[in-house]
Amino acid sequence: MERAWKDVKKLTRTEASAEVSSLRDEINLHNYRYYVLDSPVISDAVFDRLMLRLEAIEARFPGLVTPDSPTQRVGAGPSKEFGAIKHTLPMLSLNNAFTGEEAVEFDRRVKRFLKTADEIDYAAEPKIDGLAVELVYFNGVFATGSTRGDGTAGEDITRNLKTVKSIPLKLLKPEKARLPRVIEVRGEIYLPIEGWKRVNAEREKKGEPLFANPRNAAAGSLRQLDPRVTAARPLDIFCYGAGRAEGVEFTTHIETLEYLKKIGMRVNPLVEKVRGIEAALAYHRRLEGMRKGLGYELDGAVIKVNSLGLQERLGVLTRSPRWALACKFAPRQETTVVKAIEVGVGRTGALTPVAVLEPVEVGGVTITHATLHNQDEVDRKDVRIGDTVVVERAGDVIPEVKSVIKDTRTGGERPFVMPGKCPECGATVEKTRAIHFCTGGLACPAQLMETIRHFASKRAMDIEGLGTKHVEQLVKDGLIKDVADIYRVKKDDLLKLERWAEKSAENLLASIEKSKTPTLTRLIYALGIRGVGEHMAGVLAKRLGNLGALMKASKDDLLGVHDIGPETALSITDFFAESHNRDVMEKLEKHGVMSVEEKPPEGKLNGKTFLFTGTLKTFSREEAKRLVEAAGGVAASAAGKNVDYVVTGEEPGSKYGKAKKLGLKIISEEEFKKMLRA
Ligand code: IVH
Repeated sequence: MERAWKDVKKLTRTEASAEVSSLRDEINLHNYRYYVLDSPVISDAVFDRLMLRLEAIEARFPGLVTPDSPTQRVGAGPSKEFGAIKHTLPMLSLNNAFTGEEAVEFDRRVKRFLKTADEIDYAAEPKIDGLAVELVYFNGVFATGSTRGDGTAGEDITRNLKTVKSIPLKLLKPEKARLPRVIEVRGEIYLPIEGWKRVNAEREKKGEPLFANPRNAAAGSLRQLDPRVTAARPLDIFCYGAGRAEGVEFTTHIETLEYLKKIGMRVNPLVEKVRGIEAALAYHRRLEGMRKGLGYELDGAVIKVNSLGLQERLGVLTRSPRWALACKFAPRQETTVVKAIEVGVGRTGALTPVAVLEPVEVGGVTITHATLHNQDEVDRKDVRIGDTVVVERAGDVIPEVKSVIKDTRTGGERPFVMPGKCPECGATVEKTRAIHFCTGGLACPAQLMETIRHFASKRAMDIEGLGTKHVEQLVKDGLIKDVADIYRVKKDDLLKLERWAEKSAENLLASIEKSKTPTLTRLIYALGIRGVGEHMAGVLAKRLGNLGALMKASKDDLLGVHDIGPETALSITDFFAESHNRDVMEKLEKHGVMSVEEKPPEGKLNGKTFLFTGTLKTFSREEAKRLVEAAGGVAASAAGKNVDYVVTGEEPGSKYGKAKKLGLKIISEEEFKKMLRA
């Protein structure tokens, strides 16, 4: 239907104001019919004409623009950061049930608490796999929207939420009633599966990393500082509850949802009232059956005691209410064939076997790879290349190979063996407990980012200004290929990169220069040897005195040092046995990185090593060790030549015999106390 509109230029302000108001109501209604009810009554072209007319009038009379106008969904320009918004009532989370039995137990608890044998009325709803948000409306106008955050306060994402078309900027007035002065609406923002695929297809074209699932894509979209980016993502919402509501009263949860629908909010159509837990479980089964065809991700059903009076009596237990339960779905599984088993190297150097699969769709997502965790898991499940396997995908989690269908074996399947060399850098692979690690810490490209970030961090080399972001930039631009390269960076190199100016480049170079003389403890810690944290680095520095001694130390030498167990000792010797690491160490030295004398801690037991055996009368073993360390000494855990004093308590153990054999000096607890007092 074509409308006879008066030329915008000829409108008086009064006419414009009246028309703007009626246009907005009309647009809001069609928007609601299209995005919330999914039953439009006009064509897109007619809708577009209404919007264009409104835009034209608002452009001529900018004073008439209000924040709730449908033209104001996408604000201009990015913001610097998100502010915080406190929730008037805490946003709670849900307890989970993974089995029917757990749900029955929940129902029993509810009845016990309420001292009733009657069946409970529950509201049963889909549990949408997205992100919880709170929308606040003042006098029917959308005012602020926030994430759940820690439950007490979240991030102010109002501008992004305004771009979600199914969120009304202005509430519909319910029949024969006024709009509440304030209403806080809670719901789940999600990205439909199709929308997620579309976003990923666009990202793939641009060479950007893909979102692993719709939930991550929705989260990424909501956390955009530029609402124009959010606006391009087809986000949607299902509202499932209310926070504070002034001027309306509800007696049941279902009633609340009915009201939300009336004022224009989108509520999931599959919400049902059920009586008793068996009916709730039947709902759960029905929902699970429908799951594939819904077009959005569900991870279960939520059941909520319907009566708000009973909800109040049941109350909240720490962070989740006693009146609600998330009944999770079993993770989705499919079978497929393992084409190969590859090895991935993580940021920490852990080697993970990954099954390369014949692509298979699991719950709307095509899976091509699944983790096998580690060699022990591969052996336990007996997964071989060529096997038919069951793969599982649970929500966000990386797909996993669950089991092997051994009946289908033909005999041609090949077992997997972890390679002895790192597939990324060729360094030796070492096994610690169940995990295989690459020992090429300083030179392995897979670990580069993490290695450098750790090396530069405050408690290590303390290179101010070389935080995670800069490390990423310098590594990506190829300026740094190992930690020693940090000391080769020139001002001109930095100035060629984005976001670097004269001053910031000079500052970084100055802090790099300053970092060249760390204490030995810091230097050892900075190397990021597995198992060598700050404390251990300190122990090693104290015992060995210089880096050369540490590099040369044998496993036995290291085992003689208090606090060092066989795993760490091996990790240290492996680290220095690796030629790549030694090369980097040499480069560091060439660039003038040298540890300085460590100030020995002032103490009476300076440089002395003590070993304890038997039960002490006055201290626990731990306390005695701490006293030794506090006084500048070292507490050993085994008898060795490095031990200066063996302190014997009652019923000394085998260490005593060994100490005698070695001819170590044996003292009593009293003598030890005297030394402390001296
Ligand atoms: S009610 C007091 N209902 O699940 C209960 N939550 O695990 C508060 N969710 O943070 C939540 N669908 O993000 C509720 N129909 C639904 C839901 C739902 C999804 C999410 C929500 C919440 C999380 C709790």
